[in-house]
Amino acid sequence: MGAMKWSKNQLPKTEDKHLSLMSKSETDKARAFHRSFPQYDSTPLHDLKNAAAEMGIAGLYVKDESYRFGLNAFKVLGGSYAIGKFVAQKLGKDISEIDYRFLTSDEFKANFPPCTFFTATDGNHGRGIAWAAKQLGQKAVVLMPKGSTETRLNHIKALGAEATIEPLNYDDCVRKAAELSAKTPSSAVVQDTAWEGYEEIPGWIMQGYATMVDEAMEQLNAIGIDRPTHVFLQAGVGSMASAVTGYLVNRFPENPPVIAVLECSAAECYYRSAIEGSGEAEVVGGDLASIMAGLCCGEVNPTAWDILKNHAAAFVSCEDTVSADGMRRLAAPVKGDPSVISGESGAVGMGVVDLLLRRGEYPELKEHLGIDENSKILLISTEGDTDPELYRSIVWQGAHSSK
Ligand SMILES: Cc1ncc(COP(=O)(O)O)c(C=O)c1O
Repeated sequence: MGAMKWSKNQLPKTEDKHLSLMSKSETDKARAFHRSFPQYDSTPLHDLKNAAAEMGIAGLYVKDESYRFGLNAFKVLGGSYAIGKFVAQKLGKDISEIDYRFLTSDEFKANFPPCTFFTATDGNHGRGIAWAAKQLGQKAVVLMPKGSTETRLNHIKALGAEATIEPLNYDDCVRKAAELSAKTPSSAVVQDTAWEGYEEIPGWIMQGYATMVDEAMEQLNAIGIDRPTHVFLQAGVGSMASAVTGYLVNRFPENPPVIAVLECSAAECYYRSAIEGSGEAEVVGGDLASIMAGLCCGEVNPTAWDILKNHAAAFVSCEDTVSADGMRRLAAPVKGDPSVISGESGAVGMGVVDLLLRRGEYPELKEHLGIDENSKILLISTEGDTDPELYRSIVWQGAHSSK
């Protein structure tokens, strides 16, 4: 069996009612909110010039979210913005009226008793919620699925959150977090996926993710690049991929970049739904075991599914070796390019690019995506070495190697 399977997007289109979630006026508010944090800074955008030349394309850019707020992953962008929006709504204000300074003021603390934010997570989202809750004087309770590592659990506990590893898979942890919140006064579930009747908070999380693509566009513009021609986006529930896609389609309605959605084969719910073809989302059950912990989600976010079925060009399911190879490629770059520390869920895009463009595999996918010498490909390394032991076993000791 090959390292990847892929499907063109031939799904029936919908009226695209969720696209406005990612409109400029909304994503500008998220960026402004994030900027108000004293720890805020744009994460680097690496220009892998020599890799691009070797691969015969015009540009290869990697947005490096390992620098995000010192948390080693992009996820905090969503959780922090959702907590901000939640508080704003409780106060009857618009998010543009409140910021970090307001939320940490004595006046706010005196009038707003802390809320408890429940969430289920593979690690990165929970760490983001725990961090944001701590910064903003709120409480966090984090449930992690079986198989989560102690390292990731301890990172979350160190931020003052109540955190446990449950004998449940991710999707069942999400259900348990919702049940616990229902029994707790002044609480909310801040989950990075939606389900019927629970769409508002995950929508805010998606808006929060827009900050990283907004920064990436600014950084590309600064080096004279108007827009990437292709963006490779990894998906668990698809909130991140659809947030970035929605932002780009709103920004370039006439000529949006070509989007490829990448999953781990253990939780290939987008790929299977694309193959099935009716437009209904397929569910992948079981333990969902993969090194790409952040992508191990067997049920799509319906909002994300709607955006991606209208705007993605292809859905790609990847074995663990693809991501492991991507991690090694980024860590040990072509001479002259910067090295990027990219974790298991962050590097799969580089693995796919390497397979397609250096190793010349899957030529039909390359052709379908229209990749040629003029292509400028943007990848988002969504995490660094969030599990340093696993990272080293892969990058230093060669675990999960392809032949
Ligand atoms: C590092 C990393 N990358 C990508 C993703 C995928 O994001 P989503 O679940 O929104 O598709 C996650 C999700 O947890 C993640 O932690």
